[in-house]
Amino acid sequence: MPIDASTSSDALPSSWRKFPIKQQPEYPDPAALRRVEQQLCALPPLVFAQEIRDLKQHLAQVAAGKGFLLQGGDCAESFAEFSANKIRDTFKVLLQMAVVLTFAGRRPVTKIARTAGQFAKPRSSDHEVVDGVSLPSFRGDIIHAADATPEARVPDPERMLRAYNQSASTLNLLRAFAQGGLADLHQVHRWNLDFVDASPSKERYLKMSKRIEDALAFMEVCGITSETAPSIRETQLFTSHEALLLNYEEALSRIDSFTGKCYNCSAHFVWVGERTRQLDHAHIEFFKQIENPVGVKIGPTIAADELLRLIEALNPDNEAGRLTLITRMGADRLPEALPRLIRAVQKQGFDVVWSSDPMHGNTVKSNTGFKTRQFDDILRELQQFFAVHQAEGTYPGGIHLEMTGEHVTECTGGAYAISDTDLATRYLTSCDPRLNADQVLELAYLIADALKHAEPHPET
Ligand code: PEP
Ligand code: CO
Repeated sequence: MPIDASTSSDALPSSWRKFPIKQQPEYPDPAALRRVEQQLCALPPLVFAQEIRDLKQHLAQVAAGKGFLLQGGDCAESFAEFSANKIRDTFKVLLQMAVVLTFAGRRPVTKIARTAGQFAKPRSSDHEVVDGVSLPSFRGDIIHAADATPEARVPDPERMLRAYNQSASTLNLLRAFAQGGLADLHQVHRWNLDFVDASPSKERYLKMSKRIEDALAFMEVCGITSETAPSIRETQLFTSHEALLLNYEEALSRIDSFTGKCYNCSAHFVWVGERTRQLDHAHIEFFKQIENPVGVKIGPTIAADELLRLIEALNPDNEAGRLTLITRMGADRLPEALPRLIRAVQKQGFDVVWSSDPMHGNTVKSNTGFKTRQFDDILRELQQFFAVHQAEGTYPGGIHLEMTGEHVTECTGGAYAISDTDLATRYLTSCDPRLNADQVLELAYLIADALKHAEPHPET
């Protein structure tokens, strides 16, 4: 009788190697790469197959309109910006946002962090010019160093082991936070309301915060307290990243001894990016081999037919919770692009979670030269996402954000009206601009109303 699921690395999902592949590094020493892959294969899985199945159940509920998905975290994790405080602050802001959304939407919120593995980045161009020098584009710390020298940009497979170790310590702390008292509901909604003072909608926010407090007080009188109900004290936080570097993803996949099926145990949820989701390429082939709930990023130019074929490839059994479509259209293009896709998917009866990434279609260059995103564009894309789903009678199941608990200045706007000239103050991201803690919470309050009116699609 097998007792230890998720530990066998026999029969790894290696079929992707026979397909054309995009966005991969060229390792100069294949023998060194092989050695690292073997080491990773022998290491313990980062997550457990049963947790992955749990998440799929949660997402099946979301697909049915009985839950909401909140996914967020760094665009790219980095080796240098790695600290307990950073992990704690992102955990706190995700949780606080989840409380607001749970209260507003009257549905449980499934929380998935973009962390503990979000190290590899797709790039639009193979080369970038830094200080007048053309270099191979930076593809993330799991591949090479960001320093602006040709030597630093040589891919080094040993970095996969460092990424694994950083992911293991990140997960360890997140699990402790989730179970060890930091997630207590009574604390969570009080953590950070700094943005409220600066906001024109101050009264509204305070009213909602007061109502949450009243609800907790009422529950306490009824005997539902941190002591009596673990769900007040504890939470469950899942992890996710873009499964881009397939050598790493394959090496961390395991055959589950309970079911005999293959799980990618580098994270609970993995997604395939807009640039690597070609139907006849390696990434889609890899995703077909794993049982995890998976996401696919969808930009505004995708044809409805292509989307349907992607869904058939990734979720041939139409299993609820398996597939999340993460639309990243840009605020201007969403109203034209999304309805036709929703209609095509509905017509086929495909069971999917629709989630909105309002970040990647709204990236602009500031007058001061920074890659940035405007808070109002992000908000506008989300509001349109909710409005289109309402008009189509479908359920807007989740949001996917690039965010941090730190007080960075990377996206403009929000209650503190971060301007182009403010961006230089604390621009810390190692890739795309993230919403800071204040902006994320403000966003949660601003979309709360839309969420309240989001209706599950009628039972068929
Ligand atoms: C990302 O999520 O960081 C990303 C690169 O997204 P996309 O594939 O949608 O561009
Ligand atoms: Co990004």
